[in-house]
Amino acid sequence: MPLEKHGPNGACLHEVIGADSPLLDIACELFLKIFPEDHRYVPYIRACAQQRHPSHPNTFDHVWLVKQNEEWVGLRVFSYIITRDFGHGAYIGLTNKVRGQGLGKWLVKQTLEQLDLDARQFGKSASIGYLVEVERSVDAKSEADRLADERRLQFHRQCGGIILPVPFMEPVMIEDVSYIDPAALKDESPRPMHLILIPSSAGIKSANLDIVDLVHGLYLDVYRLKEDHEFVRNALSSFVGGHI
Ligand SMILES: CC(C)(COP(=O)(O)OP(=O)(O)OC[C@H]1O[C@@H](n2cnc3c(N)ncnc32)[C@H](O)[C@@H]1OP(=O)(O)O)[C@@H](O)C(=O)NCCC(=O)NCCS
Repeated sequence: MPLEKHGPNGACLHEVIGADSPLLDIACELFLKIFPEDHRYVPYIRACAQQRHPSHPNTFDHVWLVKQNEEWVGLRVFSYIITRDFGHGAYIGLTNKVRGQGLGKWLVKQTLEQLDLDARQFGKSASIGYLVEVERSVDAKSEADRLADERRLQFHRQCGGIILPVPFMEPVMIEDVSYIDPAALKDESPRPMHLILIPSSAGIKSANLDIVDLVHGLYLDVYRLKEDHEFVRNALSSFVGGHI
């Protein structure tokens, strides 16, 4: 758990650990409230609460809840990729009424600090930050969706995000997980996304960011795709040299 458990306007972080945590049902309910369109991924949230799930062999996962004024108002799900020196931010979400008071930015800062602690626990000197996949407004099907996509991108930019210059397709789910029947995902399709690095202070200072390592970390170690998978090859096809 990061050092600064207390955030803006009395907000407080609570870590959800273990399949039998009394906070796990609360986290799943909040997830459904904030991300109703992603209801199929509730088993993923439950798996992440176990921190080391056999279906996620390369990640150390975190599920956090935010409480403010005696109400559960925020959820953060992210992972440290133990084979690399960065993480993956899966979900960050707040209930409507608490948005815009700095809680999102505070959660990003806490995430970066936790990833730094994780990096040291797994033998690295520091974490360079974490990757997020963000919807592209150009793919939006309505004006409302387009605006929502723009705002989401704006939030990540305000948190220091760097859009990586790679074509990125988001897989529907991590390969071969034990906790979701593939039939439950049959209506889902991979989506083109922006791939964004939220750098830590070590990441900002780093002279070279190795883009191949970043792409491989997410595709091979998180999603467990093979190196010759078309998404991996496409993402790196136009890319010569490996560094940005
Ligand atoms: C995205 C989200 C987590 C942002 O949290 P938040 O607490 O509202 O954001 P903050 O108040 O910390 O704002 C941080 C910065 O981002 C900017 N920002 C936040 N929301 C924004 C929005 N909707 N449009 C434009 N800018 C926004 C703020 O202006 C602020 O910039 P500043 O530091 O220059 O003042 C929150 O709006 C949310 O839960 N959205 C729905 C779920 C979602 O889309 N999650 C992201 C994908 S998983």
